[in-house]
Amino acid sequence: MRIDVVTIFPGYFDALELSLLGKARSRGLIDVRVHDLRDAAHDRHRTVDGKPAGGGAGMVMKPEPWGEMLDGILAAQDAGPDPLIIFPSPAGEVFDQRMARELAGESHLVFGCGRYEGIDQRVFDEYADRGRVRLVSIGDYVLNGGEVATIAMIEAIGRLLPGVIGNPESLVEESHEASGGGALLEYPSYTQPAEWRGRAVPPVLLSGNHGAVAKWRQEQRVERTLRMRPELLPPGLSGGRRGR
Ligand code: ADE
Repeated sequence: MRIDVVTIFPGYFDALELSLLGKARSRGLIDVRVHDLRDAAHDRHRTVDGKPAGGGAGMVMKPEPWGEMLDGILAAQDAGPDPLIIFPSPAGEVFDQRMARELAGESHLVFGCGRYEGIDQRVFDEYADRGRVRLVSIGDYVLNGGEVATIAMIEAIGRLLPGVIGNPESLVEESHEASGGGALLEYPSYTQPAEWRGRAVPPVLLSGNHGAVAKWRQEQRVERTLRMRPELLPPGLSGGRRGR
């Protein structure tokens, strides 16, 4: 998968060199390219923002640097056939595991990280007229810009790409993955020692009885989902207590 990121803070994306995603990049599974928006701002101060038209607080990102930068990315020889531009925004559709799976099927994603009060609306309109654009929020809270949201999305999408996670089975039973028995939360995990500070590993996990372990884990998933996120429970599993 090819990923381009446009930002005024390229340093945020150093984090993508670490851990599993860093390895996936060096193995050529994900090609991430980070572009500094200021490289497309040509005045002496490399200005990327201006006062809001109509007045009001804060600053708005100017359209010209965005246009030059996005045109360059979309016109590159090695651009994907039908890139999807994602603008992280608290005003967007909410990102979840289903969207991560959907986006993991794309060949070329372009993330445009806004700052300040956002990006001039004409940038969204221009690229929505010319191709595919989505505004995406990572949750109902406000960040200072799209960078942290983009990192979260790249991590959630990247780990779903073939070969990125060594043991694909570990993807199956995770929270929010429907293939593990409905979109339930994950069961609690334990390791050695069998007892720590007077707290024992549940004996069933040490019983060697795989059927009993699987049953216990499924019960834990349902119980935890009911307690933490009752709205996620599929109707048959709630015992009539859904939403309580
Ligand atoms: N930019 C600021 N807040 C955001 C959020 N919650 N999701 C995505 N992008 C954002």
